[in-house]
Amino acid sequence: MNVADEASRPFWLETAPPIEAPPLAVDAECDVVVVGSGIAGLSTAYELARCRRQVIVIDRGRIGRGMTARTTAHLATELDDLYFELIRVRGEDEARLYHDSQVAAVNRIEAICREEEIDADFARIDGYLVPAEESHRADLQEEYEACRSIGVDVEWANRAPMPGLNSGRVLRFPNQGRFHPTKYLAGLAGAITARGGRLHCDTAYLGQKEMDGGVEIETEAGHRIRARAAVFATNSPTNDKVAIHTKQVPNRTYVIAGRVRKGAVPDALLWDTLDPYHYVRIQPLGDDADLLIVGGEDHRSGEANDMEERVARLETWTRERYPGFGEVDYRWSGQVLEPVDFMPFSGRNPGTPNIYIHSGDSGQGITNGVAGSLTILPLIVGEESRYAPVLDPARKPAALAAIAEFVRGQAGAVKNFAEYVAPGEVSSADELVPGEGALIREGLRKIAVYKAEDGTVIRRSAVCTHMGCLVHWNRFEKCWDCPCHGSQFAPDGQVLNAPAIKPLAEDDE
Ligand code: FES
Repeated sequence: MNVADEASRPFWLETAPPIEAPPLAVDAECDVVVVGSGIAGLSTAYELARCRRQVIVIDRGRIGRGMTARTTAHLATELDDLYFELIRVRGEDEARLYHDSQVAAVNRIEAICREEEIDADFARIDGYLVPAEESHRADLQEEYEACRSIGVDVEWANRAPMPGLNSGRVLRFPNQGRFHPTKYLAGLAGAITARGGRLHCDTAYLGQKEMDGGVEIETEAGHRIRARAAVFATNSPTNDKVAIHTKQVPNRTYVIAGRVRKGAVPDALLWDTLDPYHYVRIQPLGDDADLLIVGGEDHRSGEANDMEERVARLETWTRERYPGFGEVDYRWSGQVLEPVDFMPFSGRNPGTPNIYIHSGDSGQGITNGVAGSLTILPLIVGEESRYAPVLDPARKPAALAAIAEFVRGQAGAVKNFAEYVAPGEVSSADELVPGEGALIREGLRKIAVYKAEDGTVIRRSAVCTHMGCLVHWNRFEKCWDCPCHGSQFAPDGQVLNAPAIKPLAEDDE
């Protein structure tokens, strides 16, 4: 199982080409084992396979059906947290190099589509940064100057491509991109297996051991994979408890999508300046219609219970700006790991020479995932890694502002532990309607109780098996979310998303 087993159905999952892959059934050896089959994992495996490395990719669920299928696949080189903020915490040189990594990522996707003949609806389009409020116009000016200072291609435009609203002046970023993420992953998977790589679905990671000159991965089914190196690309890293988890926080973000008349909405990326911000793109559907895809309304994972209101606000926002927006055909959510200094973590895992990680994607999971592959590949094959100095997972926050952000992020974990002594959300399962879950307090224990549609009650310990925070019910995705580091569990406690690797315990354990 993985997050494909959550309740909502993203458009990318409904239109995903099949990727055939068996579970791992025997012990195996290879040059590099990759844990996770999203954009970062498959991109890294592809680059390694091209360099004649034997690769094995494992995923706890189906291949290419994890968090990448819950994004909206903006191929943006503009930074969602804005470059003037990145320059404030990391300086111009690092901001310039980070921007280079994003440009390289979009270029790499375009080249791979061409070379491997992957029809993933890739297109170069413009991106627009739009002020959400009059008072945000100064932010646009500051962003314009920051972009110019580090060589980002940007110019002013008189208005955003929003049919229902005259936005006034906006920033235009040429040469961004968009594609269909699960079509792309299917193409990558085919290119990997064509070069001798192996993909294994339903093969959950259970642990690792570093050995002389290599690493051994143990799977939940008891098989072992020996490799010279391992790469963890699992949304939130499974392989360590502290190094990365103290530098990022998990957020849920929401998406709606519906049809618009072909050509009624310009083919462009669009972001506004709210916090959390809205993000917009279209996906071509055929000769008559496009799919308008709008996201936003983020919150810290596990800390909201008003998902329907959030999705309704997204719909209202969309109809005001895009009057031809039809029915809402798709609704989904995804999880975004927000790093404290706005850049992802890609490279050698701190303290483990043969283990590499990619995480902290912020709102740019596709480009950051591909940039991660371009960072990790040279480290593994012994070449100079251009982006490793800025994306190094061992880096420390570089400025007081980043440390303040870090402290705010960790406050969620502190608050979570205080909940151990708080009352339960309901006093018994009798108070739950079918299809809902909640925490019940029994003495000193918190129990995660779910009432299935047929009335069956499932009880599990509410203690997250990663590091002991309390999980919270997510009524939109019908799963348990951990606010601390992003684990997600099915109603019966099975793991859907890292970093947890073990299911929620039976409540009598
Ligand atoms: Fe770390 Fe739950 S994800 S404690």
